[in-house]
Amino acid sequence: MIRKTIIADFFTTVSFSQFLQSLYLMTIWLPFLRYWKDLEKVEWELLEHIDYFYNKTLKDERKVVSFYNWRSAIYHTLRMIWVWWKDEVIVSGYNCVSVSNAVLQSWAKIVYCDVDENNLRLDFDDLKSKITENTKVIIVQHTFGKVLNVEKIMELASLKGILVIEDCAHSLGTVVSSSGSLCLKGKSCIKWVVWRKCWDFAIFSTGRDKSISGITGGFLVVNNSDYFRKVEDIKKRQKMPSVLLVFRNLLYNVFGYLAYKTYDCFELWKVIIFLSRKLSFITEILTSSEKNCNFSEFDYSLPNSLAYLVRKELYKIGHYNYHRRRLAKIYNAKFCDFSYPIVLLKEKKKEVLNYFRYPILCKDRQDREELVRFMKKRWIILWTSWTWKNIVPVWTDLRDAKYERWTCRVSEDISDRIVFLPNHKLVTNKDVSDVINLINKYYGNVQAWDNKW
Ligand SMILES: Cc1ncc(COP(=O)(O)O)c(C=O)c1O
Repeated sequence: MIRKTIIADFFTTVSFSQFLQSLYLMTIWLPFLRYWKDLEKVEWELLEHIDYFYNKTLKDERKVVSFYNWRSAIYHTLRMIWVWWKDEVIVSGYNCVSVSNAVLQSWAKIVYCDVDENNLRLDFDDLKSKITENTKVIIVQHTFGKVLNVEKIMELASLKGILVIEDCAHSLGTVVSSSGSLCLKGKSCIKWVVWRKCWDFAIFSTGRDKSISGITGGFLVVNNSDYFRKVEDIKKRQKMPSVLLVFRNLLYNVFGYLAYKTYDCFELWKVIIFLSRKLSFITEILTSSEKNCNFSEFDYSLPNSLAYLVRKELYKIGHYNYHRRRLAKIYNAKFCDFSYPIVLLKEKKKEVLNYFRYPILCKDRQDREELVRFMKKRWIILWTSWTWKNIVPVWTDLRDAKYERWTCRVSEDISDRIVFLPNHKLVTNKDVSDVINLINKYYGNVQAWDNKW
């Protein structure tokens, strides 16, 4: 019998239905591959989803515009705000290089702010110390779906006349309630009532490694009427990707699914991935020029077929989140009595997290490496993409990303110790039980086990 490997993050957003949908889009649906009605519908459906208070009046008070991905959206937002080489944009010190690249390409000066080790939010004291008279924008990142309590940042920003952009790339599906009633309907919300007069832009992502996948996709929500016309102009200037590029995106779902299904079958998955990459059948999440921060193609729009996928996924977001939360609760309950591993994301009152990732902290880098090896020997592959460096992935050139070592010590420390447990939609209760047993065995944690969850 072939032993099943439990994978924390490997084509985890691809499912059989997405595999079929992508085939359908490349064949029967071919005439609508790039242009059709889904493009327009997806924008309002997404806004409706994120905004519990959505109604006709508010509809006129904000705009939502789709982009090829999150990075294109932030790039154009910063160009629209008209940042210049002297202007500083503050971002989280624990971040993805695609964010650094887009900020640098917009000509702004990037400033990294350290994070709080308990919840990965921007460290308020460090933030205050990094604000100068040249600070023009603060990008508030809701890392791994934990929406920050940003009132303090908003207050500070409005006092100093700084624009706030919310990076909601990880937080689609998270619900935060100011009144305690917003969790109804399972819709996501970004504290609209409290913040709508404060924050200016929020950007969501539907990339393949996010909480729902349209393979790629970025959505800019504008909450500041001064920018409505400008954002319309940007939309008009966008270029539609070629048929080939759209095909390469869709093929990701096809090859990804085949690779996942053959993971335990004589290393066949490696052949599939190697060939599809080598022959450029699929698109990459990050290009090598992005890792060196000199990628500047931000003008593509979202094609209709990918908008179609996003719409399909939006219907399922509640289901995905329910599954991930359920698994996270099991992990939380089983680890809470021990010193290690440290559980990073805990839900607070009036908060429903999407648990798009389930991170834990080890003692140090060596401990993390040993844990990963220990688990791998036992057929469990933990996810390590946001480890090794605080500007991920590991191949990022920190000098090109304009990050100076030791300027965000907590972020560096976190990236050494963090690792992610399997929690995607294909992970079962039994898988979770195996993972918990092994991790507790590794740390010598003793507990009376039962698997009746
Ligand atoms: C926090 C964060 N923001 C933005 C992005 C960029 O999203 P996209 O892939 O849609 O450009 C990423 C990418 O992983 C990210 O982790």
